[in-house]
Amino acid sequence: MPSIDLFQTLPVPDPVAAAHSARVLDDLRAEMAATGGALSFARFMELALYAPGLGYYCAGTRKFGAGGDFITAPELSPLFSRCLAHQCREILEALGGGAILELGAGTGIMAADLLQELRTLNALPKQYAILELSGDLRERQRQTLAEQVPELLERVVWLDTLPASGFRGVILGNEVLDALPVERFHITAQGPRRLLVVDTEAGLDWMEGAEDPAVTAMVAQIEAEIGGQLPEGYTSEYVPQFQEWLTAVAEPLTAGALLFIDYGYPRRDYYHPERSTGTLLCHYRHRAHDDPLILPGLQDITASVDFTAVADAALAVGLEVAGYTTQSYFLLGCGLMELLAEEIPPNPAHSIRYLEQARQVKLLTLPGEMGDRFQALALTRNLAIPLRGFAFRDERGRL
Ligand SMILES: C[S@@+](CC[C@H](N)C(=O)[O-])C[C@H]1O[C@@H](n2cnc3c(N)ncnc32)[C@H](O)[C@@H]1O
Repeated sequence: MPSIDLFQTLPVPDPVAAAHSARVLDDLRAEMAATGGALSFARFMELALYAPGLGYYCAGTRKFGAGGDFITAPELSPLFSRCLAHQCREILEALGGGAILELGAGTGIMAADLLQELRTLNALPKQYAILELSGDLRERQRQTLAEQVPELLERVVWLDTLPASGFRGVILGNEVLDALPVERFHITAQGPRRLLVVDTEAGLDWMEGAEDPAVTAMVAQIEAEIGGQLPEGYTSEYVPQFQEWLTAVAEPLTAGALLFIDYGYPRRDYYHPERSTGTLLCHYRHRAHDDPLILPGLQDITASVDFTAVADAALAVGLEVAGYTTQSYFLLGCGLMELLAEEIPPNPAHSIRYLEQARQVKLLTLPGEMGDRFQALALTRNLAIPLRGFAFRDERGRL
């Protein structure tokens, strides 16, 4: 999410937005009251983002793009999705055809640009399926596709659940893993404790939970893998039941690849002693901050991705970890510079569009922008080809 003002003063919500947030808060309080006064952070995040008709992703606000809260890579530039199309073509060709399934498709712009490029390459998938939790976003995706690629709309289907087994092709998730609800933990003198969300007179606040075997086991596993103890006072996150989530997503795949692009780190960097306050990041009107308990229903809440956890979960269900690299090397491997070069006009006087695309390429690739904060991870099953997105640099050894 480039060009975001970090930790600047947050804009005040307008009265309609404030009233909506008050309804979300009532809903949260009702569930707290019904479940003994406290919510796990994972449940809080799930409700704040996905409660039907109320949660951030499900209540019709603008979210993506200049008039929203944040910009994702496919919103920033069609070159991102065009590069992905080249990776998809390679996989679909190796399989002799197949389908694409996109998880969490946002506004639908990635689907539209990807399908357009695949049509140019004469490599359209037999079907483009979208699995989206938000009914509101489904509608938005349908509109985008109807406007951008009306003649390809018949290839697109929206799924309520993951497909049955026998899926051959590519499963894509851009900035989906960072939107999965996380548990928060805190290391105390007595050991690791879950951080719960409670209601106080001053508003929502954190409370340490009692000792919990699931949290203790998770922290013990992290400490064993990073080769040291997390210090007292340390706070961080993990996705609960991530193995179950990935198992369900991978289950239908008989042949092909899962491709996740997101911001995150290998486990040793994720739980680095210096990253002592965790990785939660919230976005509201292009301001980023780290307090998920304010503006319920109005702001996005995310956590960085522990890519080692993703790779471990993949290996446990028999997938192969086929590549791991930064977004910049992934896009370069997929032909980003060749696509940009095609935009150079014969007459330099007509270079404005090219220069705009060159600007987008910088945002997608430069270190300090999205280039190295975002990573690409490929997981494959019954696919025996090297993937072009990982040809320039493959950092699986860091996982
Ligand atoms: C940050 S947005 C990214 C949207 C889009 N992929 C992009 O890059 O612009 C996260 C998306 O993931 C969806 N999402 C979150 N959890 C999901 C899940 N378990 N299955 C499918 N979609 C999910 C959200 O509704 C939303 O569309």
